[in-house]
Amino acid sequence: MTVPRFADKVALVTGAGSGIGRATAIAFAKEGASVVLIDLARDGLDETRSLVEQANGSALALSADVTDEDAVQAAFAQAVAWKGAIHCAFNNAGITHATVDTADIPKSEFERVLKVNVLGVWLCMREELRHMIPRASGVIVNTGSVMSTHSCVTQGGYVASKAAVFGMTKNAAVEYGATGVRINAVAPGGIRTAMMSGIFENLTEEQRDQSVQQIADIHPMKRTGRPEEIADGVLFLCSDQATFITGAMLAVDGGWSAL
Ligand code: NAI
Repeated sequence: MTVPRFADKVALVTGAGSGIGRATAIAFAKEGASVVLIDLARDGLDETRSLVEQANGSALALSADVTDEDAVQAAFAQAVAWKGAIHCAFNNAGITHATVDTADIPKSEFERVLKVNVLGVWLCMREELRHMIPRASGVIVNTGSVMSTHSCVTQGGYVASKAAVFGMTKNAAVEYGATGVRINAVAPGGIRTAMMSGIFENLTEEQRDQSVQQIADIHPMKRTGRPEEIADGVLFLCSDQATFITGAMLAVDGGWSAL
């Protein structure tokens, strides 16, 4: 019998209550990991925990806001106490803002997006580094985006935040390259999740279908992606098939970033 890739490992996932985070938590569980689920949304967390358990996995669900330093530190203390270690961490919680051009973004919206997508990733990464460096092993994956490197009209604040995620990822990878801890990012293209639906909230069903088709058509593969396809990329980066990969951003985007 083959041993599952993540047997005896603990994987922590933020934004685990929905979309890409949920799919990745389930994928880790299916490959043998115990998973720590972190999200703001209690309902989403409970649903993910039950899906992980249906996949014969074991999960610790922790409700926390990744922008709250005390809450993040408390959640990580609980996570480490659960099984004694965190081997893989996926810093994925993220939000977008309303579709408006740069000159029209309210300051509060710009700050809100930067706070979750940049400060939130950094606060979690800091806890993970403090845990992993003394153990001389561990893998961190941050969620970037095709928009870490490409522009997107009406998403100026989000683009700024995802560029920062790529910057933080590379910087930490260089700083800690010799420690045994690897730090990478995954860069999804357009993925059908609650986040994408949220952007089209005020549209009619017909307009929504047209908008989704327009997004699909941007991709050279002429379709949007599935959360499970991002999970596959994350698990690869966390696995022993990626032991010489650090500071990289893996595009999982149907070819969008090649444009
Ligand atoms: P989603 O909206 O389905 O899931 C995001 C999750 O993050 C939600 O469960 C939400 O409750 C949680 N969250 C938000 N703020 C939080 C906070 N302050 N503390 C804790 N949890 C919080 O969205 P999706 O699509 O799964 O997005 C996941 C990541 O993927 C995000 O970083 C997003 O920017 C990124 N991404 C998504 C793409 C897409 O097309 N869906 C494309 C590229 C990147």
